[in-house]
Amino acid sequence: MAYSNNIEKNNFTKVANLKDFQEGSLMKVQVKGKSIVLAMVNGQIHAMNSVCSHQGGPLEEGTLEGYDITCPLHYAVFDIRNGKVSDSTVWATDLESYEVKQDNKTGDLFLKL
Ligand code: FES
Repeated sequence: MAYSNNIEKNNFTKVANLKDFQEGSLMKVQVKGKSIVLAMVNGQIHAMNSVCSHQGGPLEEGTLEGYDITCPLHYAVFDIRNGKVSDSTVWATDLESYEVKQDNKTGDLFLKL
């Protein structure tokens, strides 16, 4: 589920709410023309570009194991915390990651970009 009513607040854009996530879940959002995948790992939300740097695979349809997200097309592996590609899948290159802020009262999640 993507949020279309993004709210801008000091360069942070509201993209989702914590209640939309369970541990290990993935969600794609569109912010300022960018496709971004959000993931919950150990209760924290992380965000990175959702378009694989190899041939554009949709990372939100990939699999998440720990902090590693695996592309569904040719299985490049990225660290959801920083967008870095694994040393074992060097056919892809690093992707951009984004800072996530959480409103502790409402559970709203904001991305900086
Ligand atoms: S498109 Fe992701 S590994 Fe090829």
